[in-house]
Amino acid sequence: MTATPIRLKHEVKDLSLAPQGRQRIEWAGREMPVLRQIRDRFAQEKPFEGLRLVACCHVTTETAHLAIALKAGGADAILIASNPLSTQDDVAASLVADHDISVYAQKGEDNDTYHRHVQIALDHRPNIIIDDGSDVVATLIQQRQHQIADLIGTTEETTTGIVRLQAMLRDGVLTFPAMNVNDADTKHFFDNRYGTGQSTLDGIIRATNILLAGKTLVVAGYGWCGKGTAMRARGLGSNVVVTEIDPIKAIEAVMDGFRVMPMSEAAAIGDIFVTVTGNKHVIRAEHFAAMKDGAIVCNSGHFDIEIDLKSLGAKATEVKDVRNFTQEYRLQNGKSVVVLGEGRLVNLAAAEGHPSAVMDMSFANQALACEHLVKNKGNLAPGIHSIPTEVDREIARLKLQAMGVQIDTLTPEQIEYINSWTAGT
Ligand code: ADE
Repeated sequence: MTATPIRLKHEVKDLSLAPQGRQRIEWAGREMPVLRQIRDRFAQEKPFEGLRLVACCHVTTETAHLAIALKAGGADAILIASNPLSTQDDVAASLVADHDISVYAQKGEDNDTYHRHVQIALDHRPNIIIDDGSDVVATLIQQRQHQIADLIGTTEETTTGIVRLQAMLRDGVLTFPAMNVNDADTKHFFDNRYGTGQSTLDGIIRATNILLAGKTLVVAGYGWCGKGTAMRARGLGSNVVVTEIDPIKAIEAVMDGFRVMPMSEAAAIGDIFVTVTGNKHVIRAEHFAAMKDGAIVCNSGHFDIEIDLKSLGAKATEVKDVRNFTQEYRLQNGKSVVVLGEGRLVNLAAAEGHPSAVMDMSFANQALACEHLVKNKGNLAPGIHSIPTEVDREIARLKLQAMGVQIDTLTPEQIEYINSWTAGT
């Protein structure tokens, strides 16, 4: 008979890192005034009293503030990593030691550990799941149908996770409400664009310390994340090339002033490649073969499937670490390809993810989406729901207020004008 495994209340790397984590969490809080106000209200109103909540997120200083807000609202919350390389171990330690929140996350955990943590999360029998990439929800549906009755609903903040939820809906397996946090304007306009834009370049620079000015940087995918990455790379002086499969986004990239071409052409001219498509094997064997010696390849999409590292490994005669999160693959043709962060999210593997000021709005949406699920328990149909417009606008209003920015209001005359169809030329 095998012994029942002991369920620790946490699995973090080193609790002695807690003081550093605490300090960094406090620093991030300065840039998160909207979430702070929500936390203070939750502490009064306790919307999650008696509810079990699982958050599968990148364990960062910003996520710490989300977890603290949910706990203040009465949630019995546990946190697991949404990616093996994105955990900030000091933050994980501080959440356990200073905030009494169970965390199962260690930077560098292997895939088995990651999936074991998903099981631990589901053992918590969540009433609410905050997901980042939809792994917890997919596992629930595939392996724990009997627990769906416990679930009030789920929230999802990534484009990748939403695409997955839409596939679940098409297959008829999404039998509970899911809040589409990614769709909120106060999420994707800022997090996906300015957050990914800045943090991706931050990751590339921290990993390599290369000069971006004058380099040809290829961005695969011109969604919000791609737009932000291309915009910021141009700001640092790179010659930006965009690859796309969507004709409308391709025109947008052209009119934004970027060169657009297929990856088969871009492969030969790029110095640095960033994938942000959400799709599989966007850079593959034929592209590696065409690249310049020393080309740098990385990914900022949610999963590590965009770069076909298996085929690169198969062609390599040697793979060696050349810096932290930087590996050089020496190929049979004598050239080398440099891969950052093992093809996982470079902004979280090699840097600290999106800055707190944008995560403030993303996580305000997450927190209010959870509250919306609870307030509307039993009344939301199974399927994918948008964040109510009033909530989105309120987050924007609070953010502007915190930034000290005032805007105009409509005059009575303007209100009358925009509500009538009679006045034309
Ligand atoms: N996703 C991207 N950046 C992040 C951050 N700083 N915290 C949590 N999730 C993120």
